[in-house]
Amino acid sequence: MISLGIESTAHTFGVGVVDDRGKIIFEERDMYVPPIGAGFVPNDLANHHEKIAAAILKKIDMEKIDVISFSRGPGIPNALMIGSTVARYLAAKYKKPLVGVNHAVAHIEIGKLKTGCEDPVVVYLSGGNTQILAHAEGSYRVLGESEDIPVGNALDVFARECGLKTPGGPEVEKLATGSYVQLPYVVKGMDLSFTGILTDAVKKRGEGAAMEDLCYSLQETCFAMLTEVAERALAHTGKKELLLVGGVAANNRLQEMMGMMCGDRGVKFCVVPEKYAGDNGANIAWTGILCKNSRDKSTGIIQNWRADEVDAFWV
Ligand SMILES: Nc1ncnc2c1ncn2[C@@H]1O[C@H](COP(=O)(O)OP(=O)(O)OP(=O)(O)O)[C@@H](O)[C@H]1O
Ligand SMILES: [Mg+2]
Repeated sequence: MISLGIESTAHTFGVGVVDDRGKIIFEERDMYVPPIGAGFVPNDLANHHEKIAAAILKKIDMEKIDVISFSRGPGIPNALMIGSTVARYLAAKYKKPLVGVNHAVAHIEIGKLKTGCEDPVVVYLSGGNTQILAHAEGSYRVLGESEDIPVGNALDVFARECGLKTPGGPEVEKLATGSYVQLPYVVKGMDLSFTGILTDAVKKRGEGAAMEDLCYSLQETCFAMLTEVAERALAHTGKKELLLVGGVAANNRLQEMMGMMCGDRGVKFCVVPEKYAGDNGANIAWTGILCKNSRDKSTGIIQNWRADEVDAFWV
């Protein structure tokens, strides 16, 4: 069976083709990047995705496709609408079954596929989510999460406020060469908070603190908080694997800190390959194959669809 996956939840429009052994046959994407200093302009995002959808999909031989998968949520309504409209159109025109996929679960499944880990504590860090999860009794349970903004968004907003390019995470990583300045460290049991650290870092920048020191300290503080909560999740669950997924997983310092913690605990440390860390269609295509036989056949978009609301029966 061969699945076509359509990713359209936020900044990226992506298309992937994957077979039922997990072989990625095709993967192409394009990211909408707003002007420096500006946030997302919904109409510009929609126009970008429509244009990219047409350009990429004409490269696909639809006769070879058995199922059309698309990201139903969570995400930005404009982007979700385009993804679901394109998917419905292809399913109707080529008479193929249509499968709605949860975007967060897709980040997890591509990580498991590409690293071979089976039953990990999952650390999902992206622009829209910051969650610590583990599979139990049929779904990915959220053990801990950000009480306010996701860590990726905190890095992006700090970068934007300081005039750096979007997405800001990689820019902060490049500049993280300075020395440590005190920033708020907020962990409450298994939950975390990032608004205080963001506000304080922007304020310190306004007071003239060096970008290199702030970028270094932002990473050290945020990643130490996440490593503390991930270690607590390993202790509570007794799991022997840890899997890092989502766009922020690409960060080398984060990998180093999580890797050291896992090494000390004798836990297998797995990281989604950078190519598949951010949003793309291969995540969706593969997860479409896994959940094709789901009892839930509905395909309407769900803006705030949580990973722990998905019946992950295939695990
Ligand atoms: N090297 C890096 N270091 C830190 N953050 C990074 C790095 N590379 C990418 N990011 C961050 O990853 C995020 C993008 O990840 P992803 O594409 O998964 O997010 P999203 O799809 O917007 O959110 P979600 O998956 O929750 O819907 C951005 O916040 C970006 O700054
Ligand atoms: Mg994502």
